[in-house]
Amino acid sequence: MILSIISDPTTKRGREKMYEKRMDLATTFCGVTMPNPFLLASAPPTAFGHLIKRAFTMGWGGAVTKTLKPDGMEISDAKPRFATVKAKSGEIVGFQNFELVTKRPLQVWLQEIKEIKEQFPVRALIGSIMAEVDKKQWQDLAYKVEKAGADALELNFSCPHGMPERNMGAAIGQDPELTETITGWVKEAVDIPVIVKLSPNVTDIALIGKHAARGGADGLAAINTVQSMIGVDIHKQEPLPSVGGYSTFGGLSGFAVKPIGLRCIAQLNAATNLPLSGMGGIANYEHAIEYLLLGASNVQICTQVMIKGFGIIQGLTSGLVKYMQKNNYSSVEEMVGVVTPKLIEHSALERSNLVASINKDWCVGCGECKVVCNDAGYGAIEELGEKEYLVHADLCDGCSLCTQVCRRKAISLGEEKIEKVVKDHRHSRWLD
Ligand SMILES: Cc1cc2nc3c(=O)[nH]c(=O)nc-3n(C[C@H](O)[C@H](O)[C@H](O)COP(=O)(O)O)c2cc1C
Repeated sequence: MILSIISDPTTKRGREKMYEKRMDLATTFCGVTMPNPFLLASAPPTAFGHLIKRAFTMGWGGAVTKTLKPDGMEISDAKPRFATVKAKSGEIVGFQNFELVTKRPLQVWLQEIKEIKEQFPVRALIGSIMAEVDKKQWQDLAYKVEKAGADALELNFSCPHGMPERNMGAAIGQDPELTETITGWVKEAVDIPVIVKLSPNVTDIALIGKHAARGGADGLAAINTVQSMIGVDIHKQEPLPSVGGYSTFGGLSGFAVKPIGLRCIAQLNAATNLPLSGMGGIANYEHAIEYLLLGASNVQICTQVMIKGFGIIQGLTSGLVKYMQKNNYSSVEEMVGVVTPKLIEHSALERSNLVASINKDWCVGCGECKVVCNDAGYGAIEELGEKEYLVHADLCDGCSLCTQVCRRKAISLGEEKIEKVVKDHRHSRWLD
């Protein structure tokens, strides 16, 4: 009853409020509240105001605009500029691009930001910006985007292609001092939160995160794409994607980069106290939860939207709600960083006696476990007869290689109190 008074469904604001209540996934990032933790990352799905509006209508909690730039900066995209790595099934597992920042005039963007915020006041709209290493350029751009109504700014210090050769993008995020200085310039110019988007293409992302914090950053976002060379057409003998027979290095995104994104978020979480926006390879709600549990306050998604469309938001939100119900979480905030204390130094990890065992009911006798244990392991798997294998516990080192290659999940590791007496497995009688 109270809800219907506050949330008048005949007004846009009321409908927005009702939406927010119904989802119950509301979360806050650097003081900006959003109805759910799923944001569109800065990329083609946020390259036009009308796309952002449609995504919001479909349920996205927020969006980071395609990176905006001062009007004087010339931007010309190569065509084609995308290439992919596919699994045997045809599914895209890695996506490479060498697209640059927006080509659209700033004035058009500022008008669109204003309209989006008027129409969708409770969704988070973050303006991504990039300029040359020039205080006035950064401050002017930041100020204009703030005045247009953006809730926060995201500084693109991380684009790995095209812009670094012009001393922008990752050229800034690979330099701790520049990162700190430019963050400071922007902080001086605006009152809204300033988020720094970092590159994984550095030796130590934690160091860069610390410098962004020193410059006054309110939050960090990671990762931008991972610098890559997607492949070579060996018949034409051309690098891919071929632009008239030539190519250049690009940025890899999508499922393949998730482990790098997760690692970066965990490292930034350990190194700074700043709130984090996590991204890289999120294809479903489980992936998003991984980022939250490792310390991200929200997540951004680009590639999965590029290959599946805005509609994935339904599965993301419903999956997250179910997970939270099952695990007794009443807010997204409660989940943030829950797994972080379980990341410890290598030397502190337990050294128990784990041994592989094969479940005969599941084993189809393909023999792949024996091959890999023989050629890259400890020679612990013996073929007893046709399609029958035995793990010799005294030889097994518990490395898990056999469990990784088994397609039937027929091998598991368990603790076994045995004395490992045979040290030199090459003398084992069952090896060739
Ligand atoms: C085609 C394409 C264009 C992109 N453009 C931008 C951009 O303008 N600014 C930016 O900060 N990141 C840009 N990104 C990087 C994404 O925002 C994101 O950091 C990266 O793709 C990792 O997330 P994902 O695996 O969900 O795609 C772009 C990515 C792609 C694939």
